[in-house]
Amino acid sequence: METMRSLRILLTGPEGQVGWECRRSLQALGEVHGVGRAQCDLTQAEAIRALVRETKPDLIVNAAAYTAVDRAESEPDLAYAVNAGAPAVLAEEARRLGAALIHLSTDYVFDGAKQAPYTEDDACSPLSVYGRSKLQGEQAIVSSGAAAIVLRTSWVYAMRGQNFLRTMLRLAREREELRIVDDQWGAPTWARSIAEAIATITARAGRDRDSITASLAERGGIFHLTAAGRTSWHRFAQRLLQRIADPERRLRTIVPIPSTEYPTPARRPVNSVLDCTRVAQLWGASLPGWDLALDLAVAGGEPLRSDRASLGR
Ligand SMILES: NC(=O)c1ccc[n+]([C@@H]2O[C@H](COP(=O)([O-])OP(=O)(O)OC[C@H]3O[C@@H](n4cnc5c(N)ncnc54)[C@H](OP(=O)(O)O)[C@@H]3O)[C@@H](O)[C@H]2O)c1
Repeated sequence: METMRSLRILLTGPEGQVGWECRRSLQALGEVHGVGRAQCDLTQAEAIRALVRETKPDLIVNAAAYTAVDRAESEPDLAYAVNAGAPAVLAEEARRLGAALIHLSTDYVFDGAKQAPYTEDDACSPLSVYGRSKLQGEQAIVSSGAAAIVLRTSWVYAMRGQNFLRTMLRLAREREELRIVDDQWGAPTWARSIAEAIATITARAGRDRDSITASLAERGGIFHLTAAGRTSWHRFAQRLLQRIADPERRLRTIVPIPSTEYPTPARRPVNSVLDCTRVAQLWGASLPGWDLALDLAVAGGEPLRSDRASLGR
């Protein structure tokens, strides 16, 4: 009897927040080939082509990206190479091979002016190099003709890696007061929830290359996938710090501030809440509320307790 283990999955960015979790979530579905920067630099089109042609995957999950939103303003070429150039080549190679592609994108494709959650049909108007480079990546995939799904997510965190959550925990040891932006609205999304949704979508798409490719060709496109609900960075930080007791903490106050008091090289949308109805309807993938997911991440998301030394990174 054929089992789902027969799937060959090429995973880029296996050391990143979402990629790390995909290694775990996808392993029940097949053979996961995680390929990091050392094996394939995604700025090199020929290296990507060679990788896909050698690996011959049934499914490519592109969890790699240039995610340094502020730094992208000063190194746009690199941001575009990884976020637009690489997805274009991956899509082209996927189509050539008859493989499917699952790619991740961002809420920062929007300008944040809308007063309600953004749907997939809303016009994009990114405010930053990062947002523009990610939008170009999406467009390249959609116009490639590959059987593909693009999942736009937001405010990704994990208990490892570089993210807002870990920065807050580190700063709470270093400072007595933190001033955190309280006028940008979004949905903090746990990397593990995204990885589990990717596994759900893959499992629903089919058991082998032909069925997955056919499903994604028929029901693919762009989808929003974030935790449910919305919050601000300040409220997210407050809840996080309430949930984690840390004997080394010096922090006494978290002051809410407007974003005008925290200027950054890249502009960010005021509202980047995404309406995730479509992915729930078409693929049965819906993520828990951001607050519940945060509690779960803190309770079981290892490795904070055993990772004290690396908190200082
Ligand atoms: N982080 C967020 O808040 C956020 C929000 C919305 C959407 N997203 C999207 O969600 C996806 C996953 O994000 P994430 O937070 O998991 O990213 P992440 O933790 O920053 O990981 C990105 C991965 O991409 C790899 N990478 C970067 N440049 C590369 C290159 N030239 N060649 C090969 N690998 C390269 C990195 O490798 P190294 O470890 O070697 O650097 C890293 O493993 C991305 O598409 C991102 O745009 C993220």
